Amino acid sequence: MNEPRGDYTALLLDEGHSGDAAVLDRLRRDPAVVFVDRLEHQRDTLRTLVPAPAPGVLDETPVWAYYSWRRTVVRLLGPTAFRLLRLDRNRNKVTAQEQERLRDVTVGIVGLSVGHAVALALTLEGACGGLRLADFDTLELSNLNRVPGSVLDLGVNKAVVAARRIAEIDPYVTVTLWEDGLDVESVAEFLDGTDVVVDECDSLDVKVSLRREARRRGLPVLMATSDRGLLDVERFDLEPDRPVFHGVIGDVDVESLAGLGSRDKIPLVLHILDAAQLSATMAASLVEVDETISTWPQLGGEVLLGGAEVAAAVRRIALGQPLASGRCRMDLDRHLDALTDPPTPLHLRQESADPGAATAVSHDAVDSLDTVDAVDTVVNAAARAPSGGNIQPWTITADDEELSISLAPEHTTVMDVEYRGSYVAVGAALHNARIAASAAGLLGAVTVHDGEPWLPVATMTFGDGSERELTDRYEHMLDRTTNRRPGVPRPLDDTQAGLLAESASREGARLCLVTDRDDIAAIGAILAESDRIRFLTPTLHREMIGELRWPRIDSLETGIDVRALELDSAELSTLALLRRPDVMEHLGAQDGGRALGKSTADRVASSSAIAVVAIPGSTPRDYVRGGEATESVWIDAQALGLAVQPISPVFLYGVERAELDRLSPRYAAPLERLRQELFDVVGAKAGEALAMVLRLSHAPGPSVRSERRADRVRRRIS
Ligand SMILES: Cc1cc2nc3c(=O)[nH]c(=O)nc-3n(C[C@H](O)[C@H](O)[C@H](O)COP(=O)(O)O)c2cc1C
Repeated sequence: MNEPRGDYTALLLDEGHSGDAAVLDRLRRDPAVVFVDRLEHQRDTLRTLVPAPAPGVLDETPVWAYYSWRRTVVRLLGPTAFRLLRLDRNRNKVTAQEQERLRDVTVGIVGLSVGHAVALALTLEGACGGLRLADFDTLELSNLNRVPGSVLDLGVNKAVVAARRIAEIDPYVTVTLWEDGLDVESVAEFLDGTDVVVDECDSLDVKVSLRREARRRGLPVLMATSDRGLLDVERFDLEPDRPVFHGVIGDVDVESLAGLGSRDKIPLVLHILDAAQLSATMAASLVEVDETISTWPQLGGEVLLGGAEVAAAVRRIALGQPLASGRCRMDLDRHLDALTDPPTPLHLRQESADPGAATAVSHDAVDSLDTVDAVDTVVNAAARAPSGGNIQPWTITADDEELSISLAPEHTTVMDVEYRGSYVAVGAALHNARIAASAAGLLGAVTVHDGEPWLPVATMTFGDGSERELTDRYEHMLDRTTNRRPGVPRPLDDTQAGLLAESASREGARLCLVTDRDDIAAIGAILAESDRIRFLTPTLHREMIGELRWPRIDSLETGIDVRALELDSAELSTLALLRRPDVMEHLGAQDGGRALGKSTADRVASSSAIAVVAIPGSTPRDYVRGGEATESVWIDAQALGLAVQPISPVFLYGVERAELDRLSPRYAAPLERLRQELFDVVGAKAGEALAMVLRLSHAPGPSVRSERRADRVRRRIS
């Protein structure tokens, strides 16, 4: 039968165990003992956790915890469920896996005044599973300016006071006490089974012995000193020959340190703490010790800060994260002296930008098509073509005889595997050029070269031709734009679907038009997962964020104006987080971030159809053809009143497995699976490649029009 063990740990009783049940019976009969039972509430909250706990955890046997010093019995979840629920709100500052590793750590704390704050922070964070606490002293009223005990604890050993507080937060933490404190002899025994040592004691001989013994055993030592947030880290685990106290007190004789009074300690303390760096108030107080004050001062807030510093350092050590030996000061006053206004958030800077500015430039460019000569009209039409991230990966050159479009390979991206996305963009530019040439009566022979990327990809010799079908689309071509607004998924009718299919096949491609809601949802899931991978793959993330342009801050001639993303204010503020590579690194470490694809999934769900342009092969010429077909479908869809947005999955231009490996070494296998799933759901045929994925919806027009660079266009006067 369990009997109460001491006066600082909770006695854990299992009602199903006959011995424990008898103890509980006795306690229930004792009118002085209070029972608190909030178990159902704990279970209810446990059930709401995300992810849901395993059934075994939900069914874990609860305990009754008897706190003798409070004469109270509390009903609590069993150890696994208790830990899961109590520490749930640590995630993912501390991940579930990290939390498990921290449970194996035992921290030894010597000196339970500042040490109390350390033990408190460690317990709250679940940063250790065991604590060894040493202090000979008892709590006095004059300690209550900094020790987070209470008047009920007066006269109680300080280690016991801390242990009781720990037990009241978490009765499952293993606590061992040295109520006689430590001396030079007992240091070794105290360090048995300790992983990290925290020194917050006053005796200089114990401080030095503790470090020497810790060094002998290869244990790290931490010390927070409550002045200007001073923290000392001595990684004897990594540096077995490191001198104690960073070498600042030399090779002292421990015996000479024993029994020094407050005033005698001051010279050594000044060496240890670095007299020149003490706060002015601390330095002036030291001069007054034994005169107008009895000992050096400490403030409660600074002591609590020390607890937080040590807990953060323990986490790093225990989780194998970088933490060097040395000293730092987390000086609150210095930070308070240096207050500054935060920078204006990007979304507010964007709101204050002139919304007309970007559109004005675009429209000017388009208007100018009517006023300059016919060749310029054709050149400018080609330059209005869409391109991935609006990188405009082309050089468009024209004289009175011909127009040629070359790749600008320096503007490629990782997703533009083998320039396939660039070829699509060139194809779209060629289509625009043909429309404008036809409208101007200049249409001539077109050649698409399947050669080296630095040679012209397409040339059009100006003639005197025109084609009704092309000419009729001139105005629609000028209006063509990406519209990323969420839409209304009103179905397409058969005539519309037929028109779009015909539009693609005229240009030598095949349109896979997906209108079934379940299939659209499946495509949404594929594209969302691909987006998540794009966010979590560092190179792809960097390029994606690099495409974004903030009006007033950035030039808008290339890239995507953030206003064109049509994000609501919540999405826009989240963008400030999603831009950050360190945030992605954390999400990637846990393979998390399922929410990263939500915006895409929502937009796909708001679509009437997904139109995939399939091409017969994957040569440059095929992709140019795919670009022509894409532009044709896009113009026609918009003429039918539809909003069009390409959504390019990461794998769109990765044909071979090796290419997917280069796109995202970590996620190549899932990308291959996603690509197959997309092929299956859209009904792409073996041997076909995909040139573009477009979502079609019914939505109001976009907020802004994209701009173009003038220097990608060269007009030679012949
Ligand atoms: C090959 C290619 C891939 C594209 N991929 C995407 C995409 O994944 N998401 C998107 O919103 N827009 C995409 N776009 C659209 C471009 O961002 C857009 O064409 C460019 O910013 C110029 O804007 P405009 O189409 O309104 O003229 C793509 C365009 C092309 C040609």
